[in-house]
Amino acid sequence: MEEGGSRIRRRVCVRKRDRPGLGCVPVTAAEAEKDDEEKDEEEMVAASRRRRTAGVQEAEPNDSEEDMFGDYDSFTENSFLAQVDDLDQKRMQLPEHKKHATNFASTDLGSESVKNKPSIAPVGTFADLKTDKHTENQSGREDVTVEAGAGLLYDVPSSQVLYFENLQNSSDDLGDQSTKERDRNSPYHKTLNEESPHNLIEQPRQNDESSSKVGTSSDVNRRKSVKDHLKSAMTGNAKAQTPVFSRSKHLKETLLSEEMSVAKKTIESSSHDLGPFYSLPSKVRDLYFQFKGIEKLYEWQHTCLTLNSVQERKNLIYSLPTSGGKTLVAEIIMLQELLCQQKDVLMILPYVAIVQEKISGLSSFGIELGFFVEEYAGSKGRFPPTKRRGKKSLYIATIEKGHSLVNSLIETGRVSSLGLVVVDELHMIGEGSRGAILEMTLAKILYTSKTTQIIGMSATLNNVEDLQEFLQAEYYTNQFRPVELKEYLKINDTIYEVDSKAENGMTFSRLLNYKYSDTLKKMDPDHLVALVTEVIPKYSCLVFCPTKKNCENVADMICKFLSKEYLKHKEKEKYEVLKDLRNMSSGNLCPVLKRTIPFGVAYHHGGLTSDERKLLEEAYSAGVLCLFTCTSTLAAGVNLPARRVILRAPYVAKEFLKRNQYKQMIGRAGRAGIDTVGESILILQEKDKQQVLELITGPMENCYSHLVQEFTKGIHTLFLSLIGLKIATSLGDIYQFMNGTLFGVQQKVLLKEKSLWEVTVESLRYLTEKGLLQKDSIHKSEEEAQCSFHITKLGRASFKGTIDLAYCNVLYKDLEKGLEGLVLESLFHLIYLTTPYDLVSQCEPNWMIYFWQFSQLSPAEQNVAALLGVSESFIGKKASGQAIKKKVDKDIVNRLYLSFVLYTLLKETNIWSVSEKFNLPRGYVQNLLTGAASFSSCVLHFCEELEEFWVYRALLVELTKKLTYCVKAELVPLMEVAGVLEGRARQLYNAGYRSLTHLANANPEVLIGTIDHLSRRQAKQIVSSAKMLLHEKAEALQEEVEELLRVPSDFPGAVAPSIEKA
Ligand SMILES: Nc1ncnc2c1ncn2[C@@H]1O[C@H](COP(=O)(O)OP(=O)(O)OP(=O)(O)O)[C@@H](O)[C@H]1O
Ligand SMILES: [Mg+2]
Repeated sequence: MEEGGSRIRRRVCVRKRDRPGLGCVPVTAAEAEKDDEEKDEEEMVAASRRRRTAGVQEAEPNDSEEDMFGDYDSFTENSFLAQVDDLDQKRMQLPEHKKHATNFASTDLGSESVKNKPSIAPVGTFADLKTDKHTENQSGREDVTVEAGAGLLYDVPSSQVLYFENLQNSSDDLGDQSTKERDRNSPYHKTLNEESPHNLIEQPRQNDESSSKVGTSSDVNRRKSVKDHLKSAMTGNAKAQTPVFSRSKHLKETLLSEEMSVAKKTIESSSHDLGPFYSLPSKVRDLYFQFKGIEKLYEWQHTCLTLNSVQERKNLIYSLPTSGGKTLVAEIIMLQELLCQQKDVLMILPYVAIVQEKISGLSSFGIELGFFVEEYAGSKGRFPPTKRRGKKSLYIATIEKGHSLVNSLIETGRVSSLGLVVVDELHMIGEGSRGAILEMTLAKILYTSKTTQIIGMSATLNNVEDLQEFLQAEYYTNQFRPVELKEYLKINDTIYEVDSKAENGMTFSRLLNYKYSDTLKKMDPDHLVALVTEVIPKYSCLVFCPTKKNCENVADMICKFLSKEYLKHKEKEKYEVLKDLRNMSSGNLCPVLKRTIPFGVAYHHGGLTSDERKLLEEAYSAGVLCLFTCTSTLAAGVNLPARRVILRAPYVAKEFLKRNQYKQMIGRAGRAGIDTVGESILILQEKDKQQVLELITGPMENCYSHLVQEFTKGIHTLFLSLIGLKIATSLGDIYQFMNGTLFGVQQKVLLKEKSLWEVTVESLRYLTEKGLLQKDSIHKSEEEAQCSFHITKLGRASFKGTIDLAYCNVLYKDLEKGLEGLVLESLFHLIYLTTPYDLVSQCEPNWMIYFWQFSQLSPAEQNVAALLGVSESFIGKKASGQAIKKKVDKDIVNRLYLSFVLYTLLKETNIWSVSEKFNLPRGYVQNLLTGAASFSSCVLHFCEELEEFWVYRALLVELTKKLTYCVKAELVPLMEVAGVLEGRARQLYNAGYRSLTHLANANPEVLIGTIDHLSRRQAKQIVSSAKMLLHEKAEALQEEVEELLRVPSDFPGAVAPSIEKA
């Protein structure tokens, strides 16, 4: 294991939610626009937080590397949390607060949902609201320019009038309870937080004791020794609790341990008499109320949890519409596994952002109930995971990390320690190479561990039978959605409601009469301004746009036509957002955001840096921003709900929308606990009508295996790992394995011309020819099926380094060539060798910049280019547009250009200035950096397996660290905590929180008071996550100590007393 967490991840171009194969951001600005659809797939990678990683890890495509943010639950959830806090305060004042009723099955479901329909009636009058050409921000602190044409004076659409009439009637009060709540809980409202009664309570130390009772019950008999002191000192802090529930805590703790043993017995006796809360201690129910405000389970949740198949731990797939509450069911089953069955659990989620969110959400459960929550996303995760003695672990992982984790467990013979694997968004199994990885993971579990239960869930499943057959699973489905979602279509001036009962799938709803001026009509033919102003700023709204560039243009356009009254709404808070954006980007600020944020509007796509995204998401969740123009990645990656979701066109980039995508996007509207109603409006042109009607009435797309379509990332990688891990080494066994995959189930549909046997034989032959596998010599008498294989050194290196097999040979050659004349005067040559291959093909160098950068190199560095066959005259000719006769390898030229970007970035550590220098989107530059850090780590693992590359090992450890910690080194310990990005880490650092221990011991209330724009919920989550991480680290150290002190089992002679005893 290397320090500093070299992690293994490569960029690959993959699809997300059934979108077409998408790739990497092209280089020039013009290109950036042209290929926006491809860039939409780019995700920023949570950079620079590394823990020790080693072993067999999965390369993780950047696609999964959404920014990480733990806190984008909705603003109303925030407000609800405040209510819970208030309630709790009251409960604390009672000598013994009443317990919740145990009946959690609700029969009155969603009746609220239809009560509060929004009025979207067209307004016939116009208010005399003018938009000045240059409107100064009232605060005068931010130089905001509102560029509006002279003809726009009366261009405020009538929908805005309604809002401002209401505004005047209720003066500053928007008159809406939810908005008030939202405001009250906004992190931008410090006063309330400062006055919070929590501040008045001193943090009692004895809490350490009470809180650790549950967690350490298994440690009771442990001998007191130096190491115990060491441990208790370390874990004491980690377990320190905030004092809020101190009064009832002791009672609860005692109850908990009693209930746990009852629960265990219940499970063991397989009785149908469930424990206080689905075989779990009632504390779990209290925690759900306390942390999530969930009082009752929905009826379907209760039904699902009491299914025979669930009781019998059978594999299960369940499917419900978006926002149906699927997560809770999975979480309860996970808790049963962790607490009652005493087994580890793996939860696989599609994106880093969601993993982060889950870690933040479940860490407090882990601390309260005594299990570890471990993060396997981005750069984080240990392979194999640390063996825990007492408590069990909940691993929360992305698809790629989940696969690596399973590989490492199989390799170390520990796979049966996994009691349960939960897969959210199971339909992703049908999506490109990521789907193939998910399929491999599940197939390996099915093959190697009969005791591991698998549960999959999704809102968009069609061909469930195939998945059921693959997973040998039961199926449960229900159409429940707690909040009514009304779907509308807009064609020209008419809005239709989607109505499955109507003949053509829709019925007339209303006619738009917005009285647009000619200018406005021209600028906004889709009536976006009118549609959004019916909702904002009182409620939030998402406008999905086909491309990134379009997001920015739409945000800009909308703001041009918004009345300046919008500037006044939460003006101070918006100013703070701008200030923070500027601070976190070393004084830089995107000009579009600078214009739109004062109106409460922002764009949201992969071109933002992770810090920017997090900050904007927090501001949106807090109600400071009320409108995001976004790409479809938002629907998949982050949880940002809205009252109204508008789809600007039925396209994602140039591809027509798929039903799954449509459902996911509109599913953001009307989330439980936040809205009473949600609505979506899909804007379409007459020409697309037929196709849209098919879209809204048709079934979900089927989900098909990609194992064989994705050769080098699918079946070939799979076979290499099957043989490398010795899961199956003979042709017969491998064929047997393939029969158990989803591909095996669907083979007749997917590949008619070949049999599964043929596919298997061909793939093994390919790997053998490539020098990655070797056939064992067989006796003639042996059947073909018994012929077995072993992995070669190159195969093992590729497998360990998780190098895409398409590149393993070229990587080998490049490294070999590098040995001939490695230039070590600077990092430049090494950077070139670790620049990810898969980014290269779409890179379009700007030759002028190329030439300039080349001329900045030292002679030795220029020599690197010469060694690679790229001469100054070649670049010069390119820059001056001259014809070039000599053929130069385009891949090398492009790769070298990307190395320039990385090299400059390492020297300057400023993403903004580098993005400006190379005329690249900042999000892309950040992506490139994290991609390179990850690939560098892959190359390192590759070299570790190959004797001839010994010299690279030491060098690459250093380089990986440098690429990984391109941010200031002092922030790294803080950035280890889930959801803490560079900007937040900087704030915390400046406030004196310099280490993980500082954060774990922090009082959330004090944090709120010191850190700008930190909500109580976020503060609590940061502290919980830090405690969890510290606790985890302390335990790992403790285990190391014990391992060191343990007498070796092969100790010569008789069984010796332990050193400690002696
Ligand atoms: N029984 C319940 N009572 C109140 N709120 C609930 C309940 N169950 C879930 N919720 C809340 O409903 C919201 C949506 O739940 P969840 O995220 O699990 O939906 P989902 O089915 O996974 O949707 P998606 O398919 O969009 O991921 C969450 O905020 C969750 O806290
Ligand atoms: Mg979900």
